[in-house]
Amino acid sequence: MGYEIKCYVRIKVQMIFQTTVAVSCCVFKHRIIEKEKESKLWGGRFSSETSPVLEKLNASIKYDWRLWREDVKGSKCYARALQKTGILTQEELTVIQDGLSKVEEEWSSNNFKIKSTDEDIHTANERRLKELIGGVAGKLHTGRSRNDQVATDMRIWLRDKMGTLNSFIHDFIQIVTDRARREVHILMPGYTHLQRAQPVLWSHWLLSHAWNLRADSERLSQLSARADEMPLGSGALAGNPFPVDRPALARDLGFSRCSPNSMRAVGDRDFIAEFLWWACLCAVHLSRLAEDLVLFGSQEFGFVRLADCHSTGSSLMPHKRNPDGLELIRGRAGRILGQCTGFMAVLKGLPSTYNKDLQEDKEAMFDVCDSMESILQVAAGAVGTLTVNSDKCRSALTPDMLATDVAYYLVRKGMEFRVAHSVAGKVVALAEKMEVAMSELTMEHLKSVSECFEEDVRDVWNYESSVDQYRALGGTSSSSVAQQLDQMDQWLKNCASVQ
Ligand code: ARG
Repeated sequence: MGYEIKCYVRIKVQMIFQTTVAVSCCVFKHRIIEKEKESKLWGGRFSSETSPVLEKLNASIKYDWRLWREDVKGSKCYARALQKTGILTQEELTVIQDGLSKVEEEWSSNNFKIKSTDEDIHTANERRLKELIGGVAGKLHTGRSRNDQVATDMRIWLRDKMGTLNSFIHDFIQIVTDRARREVHILMPGYTHLQRAQPVLWSHWLLSHAWNLRADSERLSQLSARADEMPLGSGALAGNPFPVDRPALARDLGFSRCSPNSMRAVGDRDFIAEFLWWACLCAVHLSRLAEDLVLFGSQEFGFVRLADCHSTGSSLMPHKRNPDGLELIRGRAGRILGQCTGFMAVLKGLPSTYNKDLQEDKEAMFDVCDSMESILQVAAGAVGTLTVNSDKCRSALTPDMLATDVAYYLVRKGMEFRVAHSVAGKVVALAEKMEVAMSELTMEHLKSVSECFEEDVRDVWNYESSVDQYRALGGTSSSSVAQQLDQMDQWLKNCASVQ
């Protein structure tokens, strides 16, 4: 089915110093053989339809529709930039802006109808704009390519999400910090190799996770700042041939700088790679916290009890209260790691500039963002609502965990540490042999190991004072924990003030 269309193209370019020069005025007249091609942005040079199987693989609309807001915003700003160059008249700009507002409205009210021919969000928005305002919509893409468009949309989208994720992290740190302050004095065993090691404060354990989250938050802000670079104006790869004021366009779009090289800009997905890697590390931190809590919540430990709202039941065993949320956090960390690895494999071996492989960035980005939003909130909810059993924590402390303190006692008596370590080891062995707790050994027993033991050794058998000797910066003493709490408070305040 054939028919003719006439297309009149007039480009007016306003030169600097207010001079207006009509550059060209030409009339095209051509036949379009198949109607189907009319719906493609790039159908002009093809003589047969795209294979349906390729069409399906090629289309990204089923997931990249999520970029609608950023895509409309990018188009509105780009239209303004085009008007300043003279490509669009003021009237045309107004028509395009109104049309784009209508497109935006349809999306936000859930009334946008995606058509089977919409390859991606950029195609869909442009198709709809044309339906709404007619041929003038065709001017919007002047000098622009979907290559610089998609890279721009994604940077805007991701930077916004990074802000949301960072606020979830801040909320989480607040919850952990508040909890640590309320429960500052609870004692528990600290573990290495999952073996009882030394007594520590529960609040110190809590804060150890808050510090991980704080590092994650700082890292996220750093990569958000690196992603703050506008690719728009890079065209397909060579740049923009019209006098588009890119710094002004960047400001209009909320970027603080422009990409300095168009070839890099259209193929650069470092901001996605960095984000995915960031998410891997943050998820690994959450997984570690989740694993601690799964253990601490088991009957064998009994240190904590998850709230009902953060526990799940068994369809078979009526008594069960399972930590599914924590397990899913642990599991998601694996999936996120997979997305990151998968995307790095997509990037590896790509030639310069844009290649369609890069379309694979979106599902990874959306999936990882969704996962991070979810696991950050679930982890915060679980920590915020659990109850800690301070008696259970304390009763898990055993005198052998004070063996290091015995060595320190001897060091304070003037013994060199290596010798003291060996003497304390002998004390542990003696207690084991006699089947008594180390703290129950008599003075004679202790003297039989070393003459340095005196009556004041009794002070060593005290978990509170054991913990409190770790007063050097960053240790588990209550004074150090108080300092950490102050530091966290200060930091959270600063974060709130820059938001
Ligand atoms: N949907 C595409 C993507 O996400 C947009 C860019 C298409 N560019 C092209 N030259 N085919 O990567």
